[in-house]
Amino acid sequence: MPPPQPAQVDSYPAPFVGGWYAFAHDEELRPGAVMGFEIDGEKLVAFRSATQPHEVSVLDRHCPHLGADLSQGQVTDGCLECPFHKWRFGCDGQVNSIPYSKAPLRLGLRARRWWSTNFHGVLCVYIDANRDRRRAPPPYPLRRFANIDDGRAVLRGRRDGGLCRLHIAELAENSADVPHFQYLHGHMNLPFTRLRIPGVTISHDVEWFRDPDQAEFAGFRDHAVLHLLGRRFEGTKATAEVRFFGPGSVMQFGFTFPKLGDMVLFQTHTPEVPGDPMMHRVRFRWFADRTVPRALVSYVVGSWMSQLQADLDIWANKFYRARPMLMPEESQLLEMRRWYKQFYPDATTQRADPVAPRADA
Ligand code: FES
Ligand SMILES: [Fe+2]
Repeated sequence: MPPPQPAQVDSYPAPFVGGWYAFAHDEELRPGAVMGFEIDGEKLVAFRSATQPHEVSVLDRHCPHLGADLSQGQVTDGCLECPFHKWRFGCDGQVNSIPYSKAPLRLGLRARRWWSTNFHGVLCVYIDANRDRRRAPPPYPLRRFANIDDGRAVLRGRRDGGLCRLHIAELAENSADVPHFQYLHGHMNLPFTRLRIPGVTISHDVEWFRDPDQAEFAGFRDHAVLHLLGRRFEGTKATAEVRFFGPGSVMQFGFTFPKLGDMVLFQTHTPEVPGDPMMHRVRFRWFADRTVPRALVSYVVGSWMSQLQADLDIWANKFYRARPMLMPEESQLLEMRRWYKQFYPDATTQRADPVAPRADA
């Protein structure tokens, strides 16, 4: 992993973009458990009541009383109990009891609660790029996948992809950067590896799109065909669809196996390393219809991850060009940047206009 380069993060319009951020898989926060974490400098604590196991609460990590770290506390009677003076906070952050005080528990006695959700087993919290808007409800919910909710699709795997150096904007940049697909993703790799399979290449036909139903969503479709020893095999044509639910902090990769069913993989990126906004934990969680064989699902997931590795190798070292030199074939990139602008903090705090084409482009 290359060391931090301040100039690299300074090249982006802002280090952080607002959106839903994953902080754990469902299995990592059992009912009755407490977990401290940090995202973009916000110190938070999550807990899960044993009496209401589906409810996951995220509060400010430091107690509003005298500042103890609530992640050192415990869940008692459905409340998060501070280790210092035993104040108890309900799932909504309200103080429910103070063991040594007879004073009435005013509504104002509360820890700040953050918007959170259990998205198909990925626990997420919403963090606005403009922190003064953090009390407002999130501008969009994460879109659930119907096959999972109705039981057709089941969990097939999850993985912690470790820490990777990138700015989240690169996910969206990547989706609208049509030429790179051929040069970076034109080879077939052994699933889960960087090893190329000799004689097998892939051609891509990529289209970027904005979601007509949700202004914060966009994505791309990739129609890919395999070539064996230079010969194109039309029968291998397959279409994958990638959707961004927001800025790229939560992504969905979908794939349909003709006559067998669907699979979907959720990929999340979270800046959770204090003091280093470019370091992101990458998480994966995938589901498939019960009718899709396990080996087929593993093959597609492994291929996706090996192609992603090629992008990660570039993103770890690349800079953002606010005024890129673009060819006419690359106009989608500017359309994407216009869409993406909504996730940056208000313009006053940006270092550069995210959409500023060069005059000679
Ligand atoms: S610091 Fe938490 S109860 Fe006193
Ligand atoms: Fe890519």
